[in-house]
Amino acid sequence: MTPAITPTVPERASTQGKKQHLLDLQEWSAEEVWALFETTDVMAQVMTRTIKKVPALQGFTVGTLFFENSTRTRLSFERAARAQSADVISFATGGSSMSKGESLKDTLRTIDALKADLYVVRHQAAGVPYQLTRWTDAAIVNAGDGRRAHPTQALLDTYTFRECSPGFDGFEGKKLTIVGDIAHSRVARSNLRLWTKLGAQVTLCGPSTLLPHELEQFPGVTRCFRLEEAVEGAHAVMALRLQLERMQKGLLPSLAEYQARYRLTPEVMALADAQALVMHPGPMNRDVEIDGELADSERSVVERQVANGVPVRMAVLYTLLVGRQ
Ligand code: CP
Repeated sequence: MTPAITPTVPERASTQGKKQHLLDLQEWSAEEVWALFETTDVMAQVMTRTIKKVPALQGFTVGTLFFENSTRTRLSFERAARAQSADVISFATGGSSMSKGESLKDTLRTIDALKADLYVVRHQAAGVPYQLTRWTDAAIVNAGDGRRAHPTQALLDTYTFRECSPGFDGFEGKKLTIVGDIAHSRVARSNLRLWTKLGAQVTLCGPSTLLPHELEQFPGVTRCFRLEEAVEGAHAVMALRLQLERMQKGLLPSLAEYQARYRLTPEVMALADAQALVMHPGPMNRDVEIDGELADSERSVVERQVANGVPVRMAVLYTLLVGRQ
C-alpha cells in the first residue's frame, strides 16, 4: 500500500505498537481507548466549526463495504472520512455482482484493486472482518459482524456517557443496564467488553431465551430476568430492539408479554439513579422496547449517540491511518 505523499498528511511514524485494525475491543487497552476519546474531543471541536473539514486524511481512500443494511454506521463513517478530506468508495451488496454469484474473496479483490487504505466492513457472518485482514494489506474496521462485535458503537456509547453523565468522574462504580434481545446483539457484546474494561459493572436483562448464560463469564457482568431489579441504581440504561431477522421462532411467548415485562418506561427509570441516562443504539422500535416519550425525554441521549458517531469514527480513521506504513 503506497499512500499519496502530501504536505497535509502528517509524516508516518513507525507502526510498532500502533493499532493496524479495529476488529474487536478486546484487542484495545483502556489506555488506547482513553487516547481515542481525547482524539475524539478534537474531532468533535472540528464538527462545531462553520467549515467542518480538515485536511488530516487528504490522499487516503476509505472504502465502506456493507454486506448488511445500515443507516447510522455507514453514513457516519462516510461523513467522518470526508470531514478529514479522505476519498470514499462505497460498496453495498444490493446491485453488486455478488447477486451473480461472485464470492466474498473475489469481491474484496476486485474492490481492493481500487486501492483503498482502509475498509469499513459490515457483514452478517461473525469473523468476516478478521478474514479480510488476510486478503488485503489495508486496515480493517469492523462495523458489525453478525452478533459478535460492533466496536465503534460501544466507543460512541461510552464516549456519550463520558460527555453527558452529570459530574462524570470515571467509569469505576458505574452501572450500565442493557435490556432486550441480548442473544442476537453485537452491540451488547461490544458494550459489555468496553464498559467493564473501563471499570463499570454491566447488568444484562431480558427473558431467559434472549439472555445467554455464557456472557456471565465476563468479569463485572451479571444477568437479571426482572427489569425493575436490573434497572435499580443504574447510571445508564440501554434498550435494544428485538432482532427478529436473526431470531428463531418460539423465543418469545408473545410480543405483548415481552412489552409488558421488558419495555423501558419512565416508571421503570424512576428506579435508576436520579441522573441516569437513557440510551439506545438504534434502529429504535418506539413503544416496543422503549416508551416513545421516554426516548424523547431530557434523560434520553439517543440523538447525542448518533451525533457522536461522527467524531468517534473520525478519531478511529485518524488513529488507524495516520502513522501507518
Ligand atoms: N446502531 C447501528 O449500528 O445502526 P445502523 O444499523 O443504522 O448502522
